[in-house]
Amino acid sequence: MTTLLTSPFDRHATADDVSEGVDLTGTRAIVTGAASGIGVETARTLARRGADVTIAARRVDAATRVAEQIRDDTGNPLVRAAPLELTDRRSVAAFADAWTGPLHLLVNNAGVMMIPELTRDASGHEMQLATNHLGHVDLTTRLHGALAAAGGARVVVLSSSGHLFGPVVHDDVDYRFRPYDPLSAYAQSKTAQVLFAVGASSRWHEDGITVNAVNPGAIATDLQRHVGGRLSTPPEQRKTVRQGAATTVFAAVSPLLDGIGGRYLDDCQEARTVDERPADPQALTGSVARYALDPEGADRLWQLSLRLLGR
Ligand SMILES: NC(=O)c1ccc[n+]([C@@H]2O[C@H](COP(=O)([O-])OP(=O)(O)OC[C@H]3O[C@@H](n4cnc5c(N)ncnc54)[C@H](OP(=O)(O)O)[C@@H]3O)[C@@H](O)[C@H]2O)c1
Repeated sequence: MTTLLTSPFDRHATADDVSEGVDLTGTRAIVTGAASGIGVETARTLARRGADVTIAARRVDAATRVAEQIRDDTGNPLVRAAPLELTDRRSVAAFADAWTGPLHLLVNNAGVMMIPELTRDASGHEMQLATNHLGHVDLTTRLHGALAAAGGARVVVLSSSGHLFGPVVHDDVDYRFRPYDPLSAYAQSKTAQVLFAVGASSRWHEDGITVNAVNPGAIATDLQRHVGGRLSTPPEQRKTVRQGAATTVFAAVSPLLDGIGGRYLDDCQEARTVDERPADPQALTGSVARYALDPEGADRLWQLSLRLLGR
């Protein structure tokens, strides 16, 4: 049994706290979906520590404004925006093809949550799976050569405690046979993202690439637009956006994670594996479902995802 990874940080830590003293000069990073929310603070913190940061976003005008603000805030000129629509295979291919040289850090942050009605992308895939999981699988696998070239690259995948509300249903990921339900579809996509971290870490270990999944906590952002713009989480358990970016930045830069992949972290700690969803909502944080870490499930999903992407 492996020992759970711990750190001196807790739920109150900010992205600044967890990256204090870290020099990212020479680190080339991509953060997806960083035109709003947690991604902005992630990109800002990486830039503050000296990284070269590309904000990959579908609203390029908004991302360009964010990049400009971050350059002003941090004094780091190496921050730019680039177009990326994760559900458009040509957009993902164009983004990856335009990337040259090594990539040290990829943060798969973009996401959508709880779309009320069954919605499909142009290829017919359920939109949360298509955006949160398949689009990022497409992007990350296309960037594999650049990640390998970095020697010791890290990928951070934004999952959620929402993954505890359902596994990947491999035989019907696109809701062709079962009734659509917004929560189970979000959960499936967030479980898929943890399984991707497990599968990629085992496949790419020899290339020095580690992939970890994080739950940022409950942060009021645009993500909740489909659930009335409100978090069900009580106010005292919510995080600020700066706190919400902490676990991502921790997974991205902490020396405690050197060579470590395939883990699920929240509040900058590794979560305990559970066989049942905790009844106490507060215990959702700090818990990861066994099905999300299952190596066989990760393998099966890896094959399925590449097939669904036509790769
Ligand atoms: N906030 C929370 O409480 C919470 C909790 C658990 C997990 N998370 C995860 O944290 C991540 C960041 O979420 P957030 O809270 O910061 O929400 P957010 O402000 O809505 O940010 C999500 C970003 O993803 C982008 N995006 C959505 N679909 C995309 C697509 N097809 N292609 C490219 N970009 C796309 C959005 O772009 P547009 O602005 O154009 O839509 C947006 O900029 C998500 O993966 C989310 O699931 C958040």
